[in-house]
Amino acid sequence: MVVDLNIVDVKMLQGGLLVEGGISVDDGRIVKVGKEVNLPASSERIDGEGLVALPGMIDAHVHLRDLRLSYKEDFLTGTSAAACGGFTTVLDMPNSDPKTDSLKHLEMRRRAARGRVLVNVGFYACFPEEQEETERLAESPIVGFKINLSDPWSRLNFDDDDVLSSALRLAATHDRLVAVHAEDHLALMERERELRAKGADRPEDFLRLHPPEVEVSAVHRVLRIAEGSRPRLHFCHVSTAEAVRAIAEAKRRGLRVTCEVTPHHLFLTEEAVSRLGGIAIMSPPLRSPKIAGDLWKMVKGGLIDIIADDHAPHALEEKEAESLWDVRPGIPGLETTLPLLLDRVNRGELSLWDLTRLLSSRPAELFHLRGKGSLGEGFDGDVVLVDLRERWVIDSSKFKSKAKYSPFDGTEVVGRPVKTFVAGTLVMEGGEIVAEPGCGRLLS
Ligand code: DOR
Ligand code: ZN
Ligand code: ZN
Repeated sequence: MVVDLNIVDVKMLQGGLLVEGGISVDDGRIVKVGKEVNLPASSERIDGEGLVALPGMIDAHVHLRDLRLSYKEDFLTGTSAAACGGFTTVLDMPNSDPKTDSLKHLEMRRRAARGRVLVNVGFYACFPEEQEETERLAESPIVGFKINLSDPWSRLNFDDDDVLSSALRLAATHDRLVAVHAEDHLALMERERELRAKGADRPEDFLRLHPPEVEVSAVHRVLRIAEGSRPRLHFCHVSTAEAVRAIAEAKRRGLRVTCEVTPHHLFLTEEAVSRLGGIAIMSPPLRSPKIAGDLWKMVKGGLIDIIADDHAPHALEEKEAESLWDVRPGIPGLETTLPLLLDRVNRGELSLWDLTRLLSSRPAELFHLRGKGSLGEGFDGDVVLVDLRERWVIDSSKFKSKAKYSPFDGTEVVGRPVKTFVAGTLVMEGGEIVAEPGCGRLLS
């Protein structure tokens, strides 16, 4: 048998140790992992030059935009950024324009993405107003529903417990995961009124608009309402240790609930908001050093399921708007996350095994992504080769994302993804895209 590709001379994790070997990929799947002498013959051979091979990273929280928001990001630039960042699968959020809130709009989005993506893409949907449409979406190829409590993306009024309860129940009936941005909308509106009345308009006022309790109360509310129907619940970008503790407690009570944290909430603090203004504004916002430190401990302690980017690109003018109230919250993350975490591995703060769990195997499990999250035989040929020794400085002007700014600009890190394969196709090499658009698949 002659297979399509052998990736040789790489190190792979086995039982917590790095062992030398190679990976054979045929027809997009991994067919053999082992010592080079034991690999089948192949038509193509790529020398890994001693780099570390990891299963492709999976980002469960990405806003790819496109369609009417293509000026912020499009399927090609967003998935180019993903490939350069070592991600082989990304899950797209539904607050696009038009919103992914019907089968028609989902199909519009899939059609726009087809042939234009470099990595695999899955789609979330918002809850539509009509129950029949929700039922149809629940049976369609989506990875789950998304509820943003802070900024209603859906025409449903989720400030009403009954409305939220019905949505969760419907998702549970179809065994669909519901991802939640948990910040209390009514509290936010009240705070916005007060702050505007006082003339507040500095970047730091965004922190006063979104204090920790706005998140904590929303997490408690959703957990309470979910007790009734017990859907698969996933809390997006949790930014406070108190919310993580509430989620951990709910897990102990047997709720099917998980959570993610972003690199910016782990590695940046409020100080960056005064220093960088709009470039450091996202919701939920950056927190105190104490909270960020506690979150990092919780990541290492296994209380946080996954790390996700919340890659939320905007045009630079939207980040640098004169008034705080015109600044769009959100930052790009796809090209900084893996390097920042490899750097923590190098500092001895995180094991490679834990990194792989947080960014690949556990997301695959949570979102039921079959064939993803492992370099095992039979899994998809989604692989990233990383150089654990390269020392470099994050420079957003080199991003493939249209959002060429980052609060991590100028940060020196050790560790970098250098080759990304999607289903056995080399997509990124040395920071450049080397494949034609269309090698990513749309998850179904
Ligand atoms: O900072 C954010 N940006 N938070 C969100 O919830 C939405 C996102 C976006 O779409 O820009
Ligand atoms: Zn959000
Ligand atoms: Zn988001």
